Amino acid sequence: MSVDPIRWTHNTLHLLDQRLLPRDIVWVECRNAHEVAVAIRDMIVRGAPAIGVAAAFGMAMAEDVDAAAAELRASRPTAVNLGWAIDRMLRARDRGADLKAEAEAMFTEDVEANKRIGRHGAQLLGQSATVLTHCNAGALATAGYGTALGVIRAAVEGGKKIAVFADETRPYLQGARLTAWELQQDGIDVTLITDNMSGHFFQQNTFDAVVVGADRIAANGDTANKIGTYTVAVLAGAHGVPFYIAAPVSTIDIHCPSGTHIPIEERSAAEVTSIGNTPIAPEGIHVRHPAFDVTPARLITAIITDRGVLRPPFEESIRNILQG
Ligand code: MRU
Repeated sequence: MSVDPIRWTHNTLHLLDQRLLPRDIVWVECRNAHEVAVAIRDMIVRGAPAIGVAAAFGMAMAEDVDAAAAELRASRPTAVNLGWAIDRMLRARDRGADLKAEAEAMFTEDVEANKRIGRHGAQLLGQSATVLTHCNAGALATAGYGTALGVIRAAVEGGKKIAVFADETRPYLQGARLTAWELQQDGIDVTLITDNMSGHFFQQNTFDAVVVGADRIAANGDTANKIGTYTVAVLAGAHGVPFYIAAPVSTIDIHCPSGTHIPIEERSAAEVTSIGNTPIAPEGIHVRHPAFDVTPARLITAIITDRGVLRPPFEESIRNILQG
């Protein structure tokens, strides 16, 4: 079992408000594409596959599908699943398909893809393993089951003894608020640490593997994911711990040759200068807030996809999997 953050009933999209978790369980209703675009921009729904599926339902509710596509596409820049889902809906419209059925199919396919990612990835973990993850690449970031956390779920379902360490993931705290909560809901062994503690635990040989999600994978394997992922990858490399990316093939952007071409979203200073609604920094301070960073392919041990596990050289394995 896992939480389901996206529900489609009575021609309305219901989104679990991820800004309020874990304290409050509140569902937000979206009845048109504009409301979905606002929900994506404001992080009511977040995570690469989840925003793709939500956008698909937004287009299914749209009166002007092209205008909806433009607004949804602009809602967040880094996750390629968003553009991928919008393009698929535009193609469906062009061939006269039922857009609601197409969005529902994308929802179902995402959960199935995650279960396949889980099965492939679980084989990479030992019978007993401690895994570090960063951000939330769980059920909450997808239509259900999760990508990185899908690997954990599948391993646990397969009888493996898995302990998870979750980085809190400053500044938006997806690890503390979402990953810790979702794993705790499922009774999976999870320990929360602040981002600056992971080096210490690498030194203590605590981790057998790192598994994280992805927002965009370039054709050469360079991978954009939540800010702080690169730091974890460097640490994993320095300590000889395997570093795995878990993502559906829809997260691969074959038109993007390398990580330097991936657009990195800059979010508001307020998310850095406040925790919750409490200010923690001096007023007027200069702030930078890139929401993602790029981990170069050379630091990635393997990319776990719904079509199998990709190994370096990624340029070749990515090309082959997309052709196959
Ligand atoms: O800003 P967010 O919360 O949308 O960022 C999400 C991440 O970076 C996840 O790790 C990534 O989307 C993978 S989700 C399966």
